[in-house]
Amino acid sequence: MNNFLNLDNFTTREINNLIKEALIYKNDESKIPCLNKYVASMFLEPSTRTKTSFEIAALKSGCKVINIEQKTSALQKGETLEDTLLTLESLGVSSIIIRSEIDYYYKDLNTNNIKIINAGDGVQSHPSQCLLDLVTIYEQFETIEGLKILIMGDVLHSRVARSNINIMKKMGMEVLVYAPSIYKSDDEFNYIDNLEETLKSVDCVMLLRNQLERHHNDEINIQTEYLKKYGLTKKRSDLLKPNAIIMHPGPFNRDVEIESSVLSDKRCKINTQVTNGVYARIAILNYVLGEK
Ligand code: CP
Repeated sequence: MNNFLNLDNFTTREINNLIKEALIYKNDESKIPCLNKYVASMFLEPSTRTKTSFEIAALKSGCKVINIEQKTSALQKGETLEDTLLTLESLGVSSIIIRSEIDYYYKDLNTNNIKIINAGDGVQSHPSQCLLDLVTIYEQFETIEGLKILIMGDVLHSRVARSNINIMKKMGMEVLVYAPSIYKSDDEFNYIDNLEETLKSVDCVMLLRNQLERHHNDEINIQTEYLKKYGLTKKRSDLLKPNAIIMHPGPFNRDVEIESSVLSDKRCKINTQVTNGVYARIAILNYVLGEK
């Protein structure tokens, strides 16, 4: 069995295989493997999509899901995360899906056999989101290599951006990044300034949520002016190519990153991303728990 912590150590071939595997399950659910294991779900940060999606993926794969709630778990009594994992392992849990606000929370965990599936760590990584985004792009274009994507928004606080930018570049995409100066990170991303011109040429535009819970400085709370200055307005979406797609990992701040009317644009794939998340996560569970 394997951990699934991020996609950095996967080859492009392995990532392509996971994408295709997810689409096989989407097109024919009878091909979903029966994994028949106990899987725990521990979200130490809020989540709707990732939590529910992993749980549905686990149930569709014949697993039993155990929810560990932060407020009622022994973490509240001072038990360390590592000791909690060892306890769950002793109870017969094979794998645990964890989201934490701590960057690289998994790094120094010394566990035996329980396998960790990273459902998001701080501002670093959100590998299952990255995989479902790639599934959505591949499903639309039947390729990934050679496509051009613009990722725009609160890059500084976004684990989705950090996961996607590196992996999409590795997969052969041209990745452009746009952010207000206060949301730019120190990473050597390919930042662009001319939003309108860039929108005309990209195959995909991915919006990022303004992560207010990670903003510790009131000066960067610019929600009210955001859409007009930096968001995907209807007017800006009209610049996109007819076959371009609009993505957002969700949850979105309506009329902040994205104007409400853009949500009903037929090029908007946000709901498709959510659906694809279930099948991408079945492929992840099979990678972690399936027979090798
Ligand atoms: N995209 C995403 O991670 O959404 P949730 O926070 O609802 O899981």
